[in-house]
Amino acid sequence: MSLRRTLVLGAVGVVGACSLLMGPTSAFADPGGSSSGAPVGTHTDSLRDLGANVGLRVGTAVNPTELSSSTYSSLIANQFSVVTPENEMKWQVVEPTQGQYNWGPADKLVAFAQAHHELVRGHTLLWQNQLPTWLTDGVDNGTISNDQLRALLKKHIQDEVSHFRGKIWQWDVVNEAFTNPWDPEWNGAPAPGHFWVDHLGAGILADAFRWAHEADPQALLFYNDYAIEDVNAKSTAVLNWAEQLRAEGVPIDGVGFQTHLDTQYGVPTDFTQDMQRFAAAGLKVAITEADVRTFTEPSSVNTPTDPNAVAVQNAAWKQSIDTCLAVRSCISFTAWGVSDDQSWVPSTFSSPQEGAALLYDSNLNPKPEYFVVQHELATTNAAHRTGVGAGRS
Ligand code: XIL
Repeated sequence: MSLRRTLVLGAVGVVGACSLLMGPTSAFADPGGSSSGAPVGTHTDSLRDLGANVGLRVGTAVNPTELSSSTYSSLIANQFSVVTPENEMKWQVVEPTQGQYNWGPADKLVAFAQAHHELVRGHTLLWQNQLPTWLTDGVDNGTISNDQLRALLKKHIQDEVSHFRGKIWQWDVVNEAFTNPWDPEWNGAPAPGHFWVDHLGAGILADAFRWAHEADPQALLFYNDYAIEDVNAKSTAVLNWAEQLRAEGVPIDGVGFQTHLDTQYGVPTDFTQDMQRFAAAGLKVAITEADVRTFTEPSSVNTPTDPNAVAVQNAAWKQSIDTCLAVRSCISFTAWGVSDDQSWVPSTFSSPQEGAALLYDSNLNPKPEYFVVQHELATTNAAHRTGVGAGRS
């Protein structure tokens, strides 16, 4: 069945699926197959159904306001089995004014996911970016002491995890706590220069996992970072740190590989070997924010400057999905958005201009990169993942 036909059938089928399928008996009991109305077990060529054949959740970051578009929402429902709010669970969005929570946008996505038998990756609880200004201003002007900051972080984590308790499969508890080997302050450990570690010490990262676990003992708790998609100084440092936390009994379940790739840096050569090291240490792993950007025309941010770039992009997507398929502990593969025009890339990497980073074009038509991922899922002989969607136990 062609993709287009899947989408059309899916748009009709969602209505039937919503009215016929009750909520799963336990929060994560859904096997992850089609929400398109196809009978369970029926093969389709959607990414979610192909992934389900090997127990792999295939996902995307979602902007909940876009769900009002039926084309977009049908695509999210039919192609994916796990979703991540791109921004709507970040502290800046959930508590823009101190003490006043704004759960609405994230609640909307969680409800959508549940209606379509998709799981949710919660993103993210402790990060130095996208913090509310009341918090950063208070720290800067001295009205928030370090003791108060610690109490505020604990409350933030526990209020948010409690709000979504039982509805989040994986939480990115800590995001990007390491600097990079090319930064002058790199010392192979979390921070220095990291907002939370500078103010509260490196132990705050372990506390974040403990607090999240108290608030939802079933959720899988992840550390999430970028530039760790090869055996390199940073991925080795993250692995050693995660192993140390586990040795201390800290409830960290997995490591997320963001996988923001760029054609100018080539395709990761030993991504599989790298990810296998984490799996061998007993950690679950996931690809959490995949995209592959390239240089584009400033006037047309989805048109690569070099017509040969797409071959490198295809190779990078192939390497990424193949790595996840090769490592049985890799339980989800998530792209960071749907279409090139909605991606964070053009506005973040604009000098020189980059873009064309995702699986769909601006009209939500699948690009060659989509068919690469689809083909790898359709032809894999990867081992079936077990326990996917079963929570921590
Ligand atoms: C990005 C979002 O995509 C943008 O919309 C937002 O303006 C900034 O954050 N690593 C992460 C994500 O962990 O949260 C970031 O998301 C991209 C880099």
